[in-house]
Amino acid sequence: MIKTSASLLACDLANISGELARCRTAGVDWIHFDVMDGAFVEQITYGSPVLKCVRAATDMFLDVHLMVNDPASQIKFFAEAGADLIDFHIESLSDPEATLRDIRSCGIKSAIAVKPGTPIESVYPYLELCDMVLVMTVEPGYGGQAFIPETLEKIRALRKTADERGLASLDIEVDGGINAKTAPLVKEAGANVLVAGTGLFKAPDMAQADIQLKSQKGEA
Ligand code: DX5
Ligand code: ZN
Repeated sequence: MIKTSASLLACDLANISGELARCRTAGVDWIHFDVMDGAFVEQITYGSPVLKCVRAATDMFLDVHLMVNDPASQIKFFAEAGADLIDFHIESLSDPEATLRDIRSCGIKSAIAVKPGTPIESVYPYLELCDMVLVMTVEPGYGGQAFIPETLEKIRALRKTADERGLASLDIEVDGGINAKTAPLVKEAGANVLVAGTGLFKAPDMAQADIQLKSQKGEA
């Protein structure tokens, strides 16, 4: 089943609780919380104290995307603040295996993310420790960028490898430039969790946009 995850980066941050309510009403499945540290990527967004407020304002599933150099040091803070899933980058400085185990030991779901230029094979040693893999479909750092088509082959290869290893329940999330045009491509390649910031928050009708993202034809 296809799930959508709304990236708060594109929402009205002065009205987060209103925006969370809008997502729930529209039928969005998850909330995507982009954490940037000004080092792994050039900007700084928000951290675990803000996530705590988001947790208090919604019971929706909270998908935390750590774009930080040292995710291992942050797991406890985000888990305590109410994350349901934490993903961090294979390109970060933390040890992937220890960090994935640490996330699971907090009783939440674990995921690892790969940038567009990083070979997908880099995450293969860790798949058994992952509930999800996030294949970035733009360079991390900014919302509103154009989808990079070369990432489709990575999604396809990952789904094939997961199937071959009996990991049928592995979620594959895509993030960046996902809209009604690109959603059919990533779903066909094997992705089942679609992050959208611009595609949901800036749509004239969020509920309609959510239906389009989930639609098998890409048109609703
Ligand atoms: C980019 C972030 C994305 C971003 C997606 O670094 O990880 O989650 O907000 O934004 P859109 O959907 O607008 O491309
Ligand atoms: Zn993200």
